[in-house]
Amino acid sequence: MKDQLELMLKEAEQEIALCSNPNDILNTKAKYLGKKSALNSLYSRMKELSAEERPAFGNQLNLVRARIESLITERGNAIKEASWAKKAVVFDSSMPGMPLDRGGYHPLSIVRREIDEVFLSMGFEIAEAFDIEDEFHNFDALNTPQDHPSRNLADTFYVEGGKLLRTQTSTVQIRVMESYKPPIRIISPGRCYRNDKPDPSHSPVFHQVEALVVDKGISMSDLQDTLQNFAAIMFGPNVKSRIRPHFFPFTEPSAEMDISCVVCGGSGCRVCKQSGWLEMGGAGMVDPAVFDILGIDSEIYTGFAFGLGIERIAMLKYNIPDMRILFENDLRMLRQFKGEM
Ligand code: DAH
Repeated sequence: MKDQLELMLKEAEQEIALCSNPNDILNTKAKYLGKKSALNSLYSRMKELSAEERPAFGNQLNLVRARIESLITERGNAIKEASWAKKAVVFDSSMPGMPLDRGGYHPLSIVRREIDEVFLSMGFEIAEAFDIEDEFHNFDALNTPQDHPSRNLADTFYVEGGKLLRTQTSTVQIRVMESYKPPIRIISPGRCYRNDKPDPSHSPVFHQVEALVVDKGISMSDLQDTLQNFAAIMFGPNVKSRIRPHFFPFTEPSAEMDISCVVCGGSGCRVCKQSGWLEMGGAGMVDPAVFDILGIDSEIYTGFAFGLGIERIAMLKYNIPDMRILFENDLRMLRQFKGEM
């Protein structure tokens, strides 16, 4: 039995030394110290020994048991440490970090900020109002007849409580004139909503920037001058601008604003549909009927207003062929226009 014990210890020592992972440790522990281990069976076979031999052998059994236990614990710790050491290499804090992708502004935000800067430099202030509006501010106060097609469900998103999603930033003209006396010189960039199917030049959500100037002696030439200034700063000094007669319920006279094509310089191309001109938005002299609704004396004050499409400007500046690209937020596209934060 003694020989058996010594042999077993040797075997256990060798096997423990060969353990290379926590699983090996568990198995070896079960094999040499478990209930069905050879060591355990030696305990039960002690009764075969004489009464004199028993205490010494029992002592030896305990020593072997303790030795195996401590070898297993040692080896187990060594294995754990080795695996930590491996992980520590993976987390080497002296290694250079993974490059982080920097955020950037969306092209619409870049352009809106540029527009803000241009008008601030001309002495305008920035006004903001609400995306959810009432019919008064979106239509009535803008002198829009009750039967005007733009009031249709097919064109305007109505929400609960007689409210609607504003279809134009012209609502801000009304909000500003309700609260402030002339002289007024504001722009208001913001979101607008119309019941349009998305296509290369339409989106149910889009952005306009509204401008309103009210003072004594404001005329159409101030409008033209402001438009020309804006176009030159935004698209370069060689860009020309013009206005053409048009109709809006809240301006009289009304006009549409064009700039010379920024792609071909006015000679005619695909972008300007061979006309040499690009439509930028609507404009006009504030209709005295609007002043009357808001209690501004139209005998004393005149004003001009215009509304520009921000998507249009962004598409021209960044050569974006389809408006939907601005709303899909595909990072692969947005990265190309990335503006520094
Ligand atoms: N609100 C008009 C639109 O969405 C654009 C517009 C036209 C704005 C004339 C104006 C303006 O301020 O005077 O089509």
